Amino acid sequence: MTANEIRQAFLDFFQSKGHTIVPSAPIVVKNDPTLLFTNAGMNQFKDYFLGNKPAPWNRVVDTQKCLRVSGKHNDLEEVGVDTYHHTMFEMLGNWSFGDYFKNEAIEWSWELLTKVYNIPKDRLYATVFEGDAKENIPASTIALSKWKQFMSEDHIVFGNKKDNFWEMGDTGPCGPCSEIHVDCRPEEERKKIPGRDLVNKDHPQVIEIWNNVFIQFNRKKDGSLEPLPATHVDTGMGLERLVRVLQNKTSNYDTDIFSGTIAATEKITGKKYDGSDSKTAVAFRVLADHIRAIGFTIADGQLPSNTGAGYVIRRILRRAVRYYYSYLDYKQPLLFQLMPVLGKQFENVFPELEKQMDFVSKVVKEEEDAFLRTLEKGLKRMDEIIGNAGKQSLIPGKEVFELYDTFGFPIDLTRLIATENNLQVDESGFEKEMKLQKDRSRAATTLDTEDWVIVKEAGQSKFVGYTQLAATTELLRYRKIKAKGKESYQLVLETTPFYAESGGQVGDRGWLEADGTSLEIIDTKKENDPNYPFHRNIAFQPYRNNQCTCKC
Ligand code: SER
Repeated sequence: MTANEIRQAFLDFFQSKGHTIVPSAPIVVKNDPTLLFTNAGMNQFKDYFLGNKPAPWNRVVDTQKCLRVSGKHNDLEEVGVDTYHHTMFEMLGNWSFGDYFKNEAIEWSWELLTKVYNIPKDRLYATVFEGDAKENIPASTIALSKWKQFMSEDHIVFGNKKDNFWEMGDTGPCGPCSEIHVDCRPEEERKKIPGRDLVNKDHPQVIEIWNNVFIQFNRKKDGSLEPLPATHVDTGMGLERLVRVLQNKTSNYDTDIFSGTIAATEKITGKKYDGSDSKTAVAFRVLADHIRAIGFTIADGQLPSNTGAGYVIRRILRRAVRYYYSYLDYKQPLLFQLMPVLGKQFENVFPELEKQMDFVSKVVKEEEDAFLRTLEKGLKRMDEIIGNAGKQSLIPGKEVFELYDTFGFPIDLTRLIATENNLQVDESGFEKEMKLQKDRSRAATTLDTEDWVIVKEAGQSKFVGYTQLAATTELLRYRKIKAKGKESYQLVLETTPFYAESGGQVGDRGWLEADGTSLEIIDTKKENDPNYPFHRNIAFQPYRNNQCTCKC
């Protein structure tokens, strides 16, 4: 089966069990302050689980674009280095909103995996929650007895809260879960070590493919668990892993989900992907993975930027650029060239990318151009830092910050290069430098104003600048301000020839003379502008007879 057929078979199977097929929610989350990106299929259904909104259906099925690079679920460092972690992935899910529960969910998982996908039964393992005394949650006896109908007890593994109690984040819907693992090792190996000993042990060939979560609680901010008014089913099966199992591959990147972009990268760079652990192969995998996260998040409206969700995209993109620059020896923008291949591949599943191809490609190319401009210098600086490290195993926070601030290296990129050179980065030193910079820029933008000192009661300033460039006048009021760490004064004159900055036009500059002293007027603004009018760096005293001449 191709990846498209495998996805469709999932949707069709659950449709035949009374589920409505619904589209993926955007990968970028706009209305949930606890999340930047959709990190699980259930995010879009959170309010139905919590009982905040009635669900329009009892059962749905979908494939959801997910991204796990920030917050509770974060896989970025693994991506490309191994063959099965991803930034963006598709999560196939079937959902019950207060309708069926553990028995049906488990029964249908078994039927789909063994009868539709034809996975050999003896390669499947299930995990069951063992309970947690501290939180007062009992073991999942219903799940256990259901699984016993399908598999022998030595294929059922009990798991603790870490593996078998699923939580969306620090707060929100949660509940015990039952995972399904597949042992893809060759027969000889399976005879030597039973698969159950490798479940949840990070073995690359004994992998979790499906998680059935039985949502029963809401985790509240104070850490307590509140039982929900109804119970629900939330399942998630990683499409990329499933396809790998069904296409009988040892790496997700050997499936037809990634082969198109890998082939395109080979063509562009003239290098070959050999599936090994070499840096070149890692670079191919990083690109094939990251291009999806970049393309679909931008298509869903998140532009790369310096903060929040936008910075996550920028970090992923810069990680990809560094990989092709250093290990595929490609020194010009590359990612934007892969975008059309990706758009075409997904045009019938997530058509939003293909529809906005010009825009997305342009944004990506501009980002690549910008980073490539500083990357070479940054890598040279990094080499110096590594060379100077000597016996020291830690890169000081100041230098990590310099790489970030001057060369645009996100900390995880510096961390990655440091690790490749057996070094570590001083994370807390970097945080300290970041904070100092934030304080500096806060000080630079704070405008500290004292009260106005009234010298002469009068109405508005009279503008005479259309006919004259100088005037003799009196001072109406003044005040001292502190901006960008410097002291200066703002003056309001009774008559002024200075044209104030407005509508983008630069304000007049000039001099103010009184008592034989000359003050430079460096900026003039409209009276309703808080900075109006403005001159600086000269200690100002009100003049004896308050007479001054100003010229511009
Ligand atoms: N919420 C569970 C997960 O994300 C199952 O969908 O793994």
